[in-house]
Amino acid sequence: MNTCSAGELNRSRAANPSYAQKVKSHPEFMAYQIEYQKEVHSIRTIFDTIINYPNAPINIHLILEDCSRLASLNTTTLDLFDRLHNMRLDDDSVYSHCLNVALIARQMGKWLRLTHEELNVLTLCGLFHDIGKIQIPEEILNKPGKYTEEEFALIRQHPLAGYNLLKNLPADERIKKAALLHHERSDGSGYPQKLKAGQIEDFAEIIAIADVYDAMTAARSYRSPLCPFQAIDMFEKDGLQLYSPKYILTFLNRIANTYQNNRVLLNNGQSANIVMINDKRLTRPMIQLDNGSVVDMLDLPEWEIIKII
Ligand SMILES: [Fe+2]
Repeated sequence: MNTCSAGELNRSRAANPSYAQKVKSHPEFMAYQIEYQKEVHSIRTIFDTIINYPNAPINIHLILEDCSRLASLNTTTLDLFDRLHNMRLDDDSVYSHCLNVALIARQMGKWLRLTHEELNVLTLCGLFHDIGKIQIPEEILNKPGKYTEEEFALIRQHPLAGYNLLKNLPADERIKKAALLHHERSDGSGYPQKLKAGQIEDFAEIIAIADVYDAMTAARSYRSPLCPFQAIDMFEKDGLQLYSPKYILTFLNRIANTYQNNRVLLNNGQSANIVMINDKRLTRPMIQLDNGSVVDMLDLPEWEIIKII
């Protein structure tokens, strides 16, 4: 997709600041970034302690307090997702992924009207869900391209490894189960136990969605980050078979509606404003083009939203 040279890219950025640059230039973003990096550091410290000193006392409430304070700095859902997408451009570690998943899951919990206590447990589920990945060599985790069968077998061990690291902590069982079950899928295609719908804990199902969304919207060596509408499109293709409908439908609907009134770039090079989200087809909203005409993307199946601008 990206075919221009670094020089061309810099010139085009100077002439037309990207959405990412606009988000990053807000003073609140910088304050948020400092708090975010502090929290990433705390997650790293607590993971290292759990891994290296299994019997050391752990205070998971401090890390929870910091994470809820970070969440409260986002006054709108758009703030949250804008900041997460942009924070990820600078830090793609397992720790920042865990923090993003915690923040996304906490927001999902609010949409689902969970109690305060449930929100806190769900946030901790996100913070600890990938702790088992710390034991996988970084060169495998960050490997560009496809995994070999042996490498994938190693990756598939991280949920159980995570559960084993957490199982003796004095913490809610749901946190341990989220580490173990966040790669299970409703159709039985997940791992490690190939559980099916009805056998997977609710909070693990929520974490699974937050986990995949964060991975889709992160840059990978083999592709640019997907824009939220491309992520929704991928979820819509197979989401109902893989995830609990009651969670995935709420999630996708809320994400799409977050971008109502935003400017977007289409795959035909035109830019437009999202005028109205179509609740039945979230990736096909009514949009207003720069020439003022309003079109319904339902009537234009070849058009796609490829970027928030
Ligand atoms: Fe994972």
